[in-house]
Amino acid sequence: MSEAPPAIEVSHLVKAYGGVTAVSDISFTVARGEIVGFLGPNGAGKSTTMRILTGYLPATSGNVQICGISVATQPDEIKRRIGYMPENNPLPEDMRVSEYLYFRGRLKEIARRKLGPRIDEVLEVCDLKRVRHKIIGQLSKGYRQRVGIAEAILAEPPVIIMDEPTIGLDPHQILIVRDLISSLRGRMTVIISSHILPEIEMTCDRVLIINQGRVVAQGTPADLRREIFGHSTYKLEVAGDSAVLATAAAAVEPSLQITEDSMPDAHGFRRVTLTTSREDDIGEPLLRTLLAQELRVRALNRAHPSLEDVFLAATRRSWDAVVPGRPAAPAATRSREKGDGPGT
Ligand SMILES: Nc1ncnc2c1ncn2[C@@H]1O[C@H](COP(=O)(O)OP(=O)(O)OP(=O)(O)O)[C@@H](O)[C@H]1O
Ligand SMILES: [Mg+2]
Repeated sequence: MSEAPPAIEVSHLVKAYGGVTAVSDISFTVARGEIVGFLGPNGAGKSTTMRILTGYLPATSGNVQICGISVATQPDEIKRRIGYMPENNPLPEDMRVSEYLYFRGRLKEIARRKLGPRIDEVLEVCDLKRVRHKIIGQLSKGYRQRVGIAEAILAEPPVIIMDEPTIGLDPHQILIVRDLISSLRGRMTVIISSHILPEIEMTCDRVLIINQGRVVAQGTPADLRREIFGHSTYKLEVAGDSAVLATAAAAVEPSLQITEDSMPDAHGFRRVTLTTSREDDIGEPLLRTLLAQELRVRALNRAHPSLEDVFLAATRRSWDAVVPGRPAAPAATRSREKGDGPGT
């Protein structure tokens, strides 16, 4: 086969820091042009994995290939192919922004005549033009973050790895960074770690969730919802006879399970949850059938578990699968049992 190797291929990666196993046995593949969100609770091993991927930290065992090249044996080749924005990105305090980008660009072997226009471009996309002549040490945290992002994309490498790129950014800047990352779609392969899950859901094609140094779930947010929750839920506010409701619901979808969530209020409406393993949206036929049966309906919403619900369930599931020698989940996290997540 002459097919190009995947952008990132990680197999059986292990990293121990002395007695602490930060990464236990991680394997995953990222296709070229994919944008992947790398999620996990604090201490899960995200930054450690990212450092190994970029060649900044040697693995204890296992294998990482970037575009078919081994990180362990050809670290210099890897550095040419990866733009990396580390966690708590250290920057030289006494350099000016444009000076720093020029210096990094030369290290990345960007030709002098191309470097000037390219720096202008990244200053533009990272909204840094106003501060190009400022000393980095005098920039606010958000601006420093953006200098780190500018540096990572400067040489237009095929693979970009960013460790919490939007931490500390204001909502405007989060939008700018989200658009920036989306604009790389199809051209570069991107792995981003973040704790801001709605942002990951909007930007990423796929997510990898790790916990205690292992992959506990991976797939598109929709795949994960299906895998973890396995059913669709509808929230209904209805007035009318329960038996009529049961018959009407069964006529639309026989597998619908009905749970009465509240007693009727002063107007006769009660809250009801309908659950089915069917994935396509049956909201419209359901509403039409209920109204045809003279039931009064005040609200009907499909409950959509958020990526946060998926994340909490996947990490809880891995904590609950008791691993000998591992500490149990913090009590606060375990007690956050929820149903299918918030409505709508
Ligand atoms: N240099 C180090 N020496 C010893 N242990 C370390 C070192 N760096 C990380 N660890 C440990 O490895 C584990 C994974 O840490 P890592 O920084 O990879 O987590 P993370 O998923 O990035 O967490 P966060 O969301 O807080 O950034 C943690 O238990 C951490 O304490
Ligand atoms: Mg980290």
